[in-house]
Formats: sequence, structure tokens, C-alpha cells
Amino acid sequence: MKKLKMLYEGKAKKVYQTEKENLYIVDYKDDATAFNGLKKGSILGKGVINNKMTNIVFQYLAENGIENHFVEELSDRETLVKKVQIVPLEVIVRNIAAGSFSKKFGVEEGTPLKNPVLEFSYKNDALGDPMINEMQITAIGIATEKELETISKSALKINALMQKFFLEKEIILVDFKIEFGKYGDKIILADEVSPDTCRLWDANTKEKLDKDRFRRDLGGVEEAYQEVWRRIKE
Ligand code: TMP
Repeated sequence: MKKLKMLYEGKAKKVYQTEKENLYIVDYKDDATAFNGLKKGSILGKGVINNKMTNIVFQYLAENGIENHFVEELSDRETLVKKVQIVPLEVIVRNIAAGSFSKKFGVEEGTPLKNPVLEFSYKNDALGDPMINEMQITAIGIATEKELETISKSALKINALMQKFFLEKEIILVDFKIEFGKYGDKIILADEVSPDTCRLWDANTKEKLDKDRFRRDLGGVEEAYQEVWRRIKE
């Protein structure tokens, strides 16, 4: 399958049309941004790791009943995916307090949460991806009540599956962000699952193995991505 016209260039990926009307190619970049694009940089080799890691996780999720857009890995950085219409929501699930949750509620980072927390942000760069609740989502028409129910149930199931997946690699899944897309009359998982979009801590040392190392200038960014990939590829 060949790349035709580039349809979209995001902060971390490009999306291309293919000869097949119903298939796209995603091409992962090494570019990294944080704080709605305010902080810019590059993480050497990130595109390859995020591509391959997403594909492994998506295949694992598919085997466990979570339909998603993965079709075929084409190269180190390129994957063939089903064409979906992205629902403009960042669906966040948290197991341990960190990041914006810790800041907003004054809960120390690392505090286990008594239940998984589901949050939504409206995917809109101009507005800075504001947090949005379910009634606001249905009121604006971002998703219907039924679609939102499917997304919420699926996100919590994905959380349980991914917690197990990562723990087997001695990694704690602190929180993550996923996106869904409309595919015919179905809603399926799309986008990526990578150290860009998850908080991943070493289960023993609690060392951060994710994009927080870039966001917070902690150093060892490339090494953290490589460490996650080393544990996952086995
Ligand atoms: P937060 O604590 O900053 O709200 O982030 C929650 C999770 O979502 C964390 O795993 C990082 C991920 N995330 C993204 O993937 N993209 C984003 O733009 C943001 C803000 C967070």
C-alpha cells in the first residue's frame, strides 16, 4: 500500500490517503510537544517506538475484544489503519493521581485512587483542550449519549486490560489518554498508546518511563522510551 496525499499533520503523526478509500496510513514522527505546543522538541527514535508499541498494544486489545483501527504495520514508522472519523474527545483514565489531577485537586502525585477516574477533554487546540463533562458533550453534539456510553465502557475495559498488560512488564499504568473514531455505525479505538500518551512508572523503583521526562526536563527521555520498548517487545 502506497501513501498518496497527506491529509493531516498533527504534533506527533502524519496521516495519508491510500489507494483504498477506507484505509489510511499513519506515519509517526520524532517531534514532541507539550503544554498545547508551547514546548517543542524532538525525541530521537520516538516515532519508531510509538508506532511499534501502539501496534502491539492494539493487537493485544483486539485479541481481548476491543475493536480498533489497526490493520497492518508497513514499516518502522508507518501503519495501515482503518479510516475513522475521530470523535474530538481526549478520553483519559487514571488509576493513580498525577499530572493535572494532582494539581487541580491538591492530591500528591503517586496517591492511589479508590476507583479509576474517567475524564474527557474537548480536542480543540484553539481552546486548549478544555475539560468537558458528559452533559456538555451531548449538549454540544460532540457525541450522543449512546456513543458516550460505548466510549466510557470501552475506556474502562481498556484500562483493566492495559493495567494487566503493563504489570506483566513490571510497569504501572498510572494514567493514559485514548481517542475513538466512528467507523460505519460503530465506535472503535483509534490513535495511539505510547509513552507519549500514558504515564508509565517502573513497578519497583517508580521511575518515570514516559513523556513526563520531556515535559518536566527530567533528562533520560530517549532512554525511558527505549526501556519501555525493551520490556514490551519481549
Ligand atoms: P494530564 O495529567 O496532563 O491531564 O494527562 C493525563 C494523561 O493524558 C497522561 O497520561 C498524559 C496524557 N495526555 C496526552 O496524551 N495528551 C495531552 O495533550 C495531555 C494534556 C495529556
